[in-house]
Amino acid sequence: MSVWDWRRASPEAIDQSGVWRFRELLPEADESEVVTMIEGNTQIWDAPRCAEYAGMNRLSFKHLGMNPTGSFKDLGMTTGITQARRLGATSVACASTGNTSASMAAYAARAGMKAFVFIPAGQIALGKLSQALDYGAVVLQIEGDFDDAMRLAQEVADDSPLYLLNSVNPFRLEGQKTIAFELMQQRGWRAPDRVVVPGGNLGNSSAIAKGFHELMERGVIEKMPKITIIQAEGANPLYQMWLQYRDREGADGLTLEPVAGASTLATAIKIGNPVSWPKAMRGLRWSDGEVEQVTEQEIADAKAMIGRDGIGCEPASAVTLAGIRKIIAADRLKPDEDVVAILTGHVLKDPDYTVNYHAGTLSFTNKGGEKVVIESRYANAFARVPAERGAIMRALGL
Ligand code: F0G
Repeated sequence: MSVWDWRRASPEAIDQSGVWRFRELLPEADESEVVTMIEGNTQIWDAPRCAEYAGMNRLSFKHLGMNPTGSFKDLGMTTGITQARRLGATSVACASTGNTSASMAAYAARAGMKAFVFIPAGQIALGKLSQALDYGAVVLQIEGDFDDAMRLAQEVADDSPLYLLNSVNPFRLEGQKTIAFELMQQRGWRAPDRVVVPGGNLGNSSAIAKGFHELMERGVIEKMPKITIIQAEGANPLYQMWLQYRDREGADGLTLEPVAGASTLATAIKIGNPVSWPKAMRGLRWSDGEVEQVTEQEIADAKAMIGRDGIGCEPASAVTLAGIRKIIAADRLKPDEDVVAILTGHVLKDPDYTVNYHAGTLSFTNKGGEKVVIESRYANAFARVPAERGAIMRALGL
């Protein structure tokens, strides 16, 4: 453990990286092959307003949106692209709801590789699309949803030299498991009672559980935090499966039933057929964890509360706070428990969502095809005023 501590002060990028610092527990790579942007080293912040909102005594967020490309994907991309380089790949590909493509495009550019990204047309946040374009990826807008893009990316990769970098790639998960290592290092190796994480394709929750499990096996930590996965109600296949699992003896024969036409304004997790569900179930079993779902309204309000603590995040990340509030209300969590929620993406990834919420114009189409306007309960409404001193004084109430 002490070597992991002193590496934080080392001048070498490979030591400063919050992933490669823990290289004893990662797949082997020669130092010269490592492609790193000094990812990780993300802050843990106390969030008193959010704690009060959820009904907790305290609550903290580890904000993985503070990574180089603004999401947790960088933690898995450094190991994924390093492996691609080791294999001699010159082209990499992924299907994405936005963040994976932004991250892969950046790391591929650093490694001098060509990046091909498959995104559902018109369904990813603009900040993420702008990143993939700027970092030089070939962007294919697929006329379908993420699940179509994922299937097609897999088919194309099977038939070509493209190296697939979705989280089905185990090297991605190896990088992302260091979320657990860094969190524990920052907390002096004291494990929290719970770690709450959004669930989309289910790679990240699987990776975090694996990280904690490895620390337990090595005797580095004394308890396994309950991994708590939160999904959006309109994209909730794991939640549905979880209900069945809970109500029966053992998981034999249980498989995930995909949600057709998954829908949520939290586009990062708009996924109906997540590829990593078996590994997510394994993590839930290891940690005696649980799954919860939250509505569009709950996500929107939770996101605004996270903003009020001066933190901010993209919509998918806010499911964590919404989920904690719901689990507290259901009496499955006590206010004095030690809970860390994982924020996965930066607030600037999807500014349209935020501005629409505060302007009172955030809406979605429900399963019945009706337009539903989100109630902006915590809106910070903004006014338009003439460019004139008196009008400004009046607007400010002075
Ligand atoms: N939060 C954000 C901001 C994400 O971008 C994602 C996934 C998740 C949560 C869910 O993580 O898929 O490991 O369960 N984004 C992927 C992408 C699917 O393509 O960027 P997961």
